[in-house]
Amino acid sequence: MPMMQRPRRNRKSEAVRAFHRETWLAPQHFISPLFIHENKNDEDIISMPGCQRLGHEGLLREVEQSLEVGVNSFVLFPATPERLKTSHGEEAYNPEGHIQRVLRDLKKRWPDITLVTDVALDPYSSDGHDGIVADDGTILNDETVAVLCKQALSQAQAGADVIAPSDMMDGRIGAIRNTLDEAGFQHVSLLSYTAKYASGFYGPFRDALDSAPKHGDKKTYQMDPANAREALRELHLDEDEGADMVMVKPAGAYLDVISLVRDNTTLPVAAYQVSGEYAMLKAACQNGWLTEEKVVPEALMAIRRAGADVILSYFAKQVSTWMKEGKIPYGA
Ligand code: PBG
Repeated sequence: MPMMQRPRRNRKSEAVRAFHRETWLAPQHFISPLFIHENKNDEDIISMPGCQRLGHEGLLREVEQSLEVGVNSFVLFPATPERLKTSHGEEAYNPEGHIQRVLRDLKKRWPDITLVTDVALDPYSSDGHDGIVADDGTILNDETVAVLCKQALSQAQAGADVIAPSDMMDGRIGAIRNTLDEAGFQHVSLLSYTAKYASGFYGPFRDALDSAPKHGDKKTYQMDPANAREALRELHLDEDEGADMVMVKPAGAYLDVISLVRDNTTLPVAAYQVSGEYAMLKAACQNGWLTEEKVVPEALMAIRRAGADVILSYFAKQVSTWMKEGKIPYGA
């Protein structure tokens, strides 16, 4: 058959495919989310096979293994015992709190790692909400922002390199930036959860931290999954308020939003492949219905292709290990 164009010629071998591959995965693209608790032993998280709530020894081991495969950035999520939870989440800014102690210890051991912290009240809130709940059930915005500023400052004082507000209160990026600057923490970055959707895909995370809302849902602060333009509104506010990096979350079901945000900002874009995305892939792979070494890199590559610079993923260590072993395509 005479044909001037045969696109298949550009796919004929791995070498030729690699000539014009547009997107790469590399360990430096990842931030590894880690769940920690104050118990000594690690505890399996049932809905996230392969992930655990780590005790201190377990955490140190996990960091060390991740560093060996090139993953140098971590975001820490503490599970707080029920007795320390209050309606205003005061434990969030206790200078001797769990996360504050862990940050100091990790920074002392590994000064060069990048530690990202989550700002939101849900792990510390007796209501399981990211903000303070009024008597009528409303989530109070400005009162919450005041507490989030204290939380962010206390994390910066303990050694956080990047502060990541995931609460979705209005005005929190600007308020936290001011608080940090006034206290001399100009060098601490803000990674804003810019377009964080009210998603069902956070279920396993809430199991991991036992942090599900006791009443109601998060729809008055997290975004409606039906909306993309609203992400641009949040993006422009975060840029004006001084965000250094912006995030879209979840990732896999919101690739269009990642792409939209990418096209509308010069800031680095992050995406969070959340607990439910991890659980879905893991469950299918454990059943033998999908092959982990194929679908995990593909799902991550799609997030990069959509425009994410950096990915928060529970697969960070695993996929970087495969890269080191030369087992996966499209690794750098
Ligand atoms: C807390 C927070 C959540 C996640 C990250 N930070 C849960 C929520 O908003 O309910 C979800 C991450 C995941 O599902 O992996 N504000």
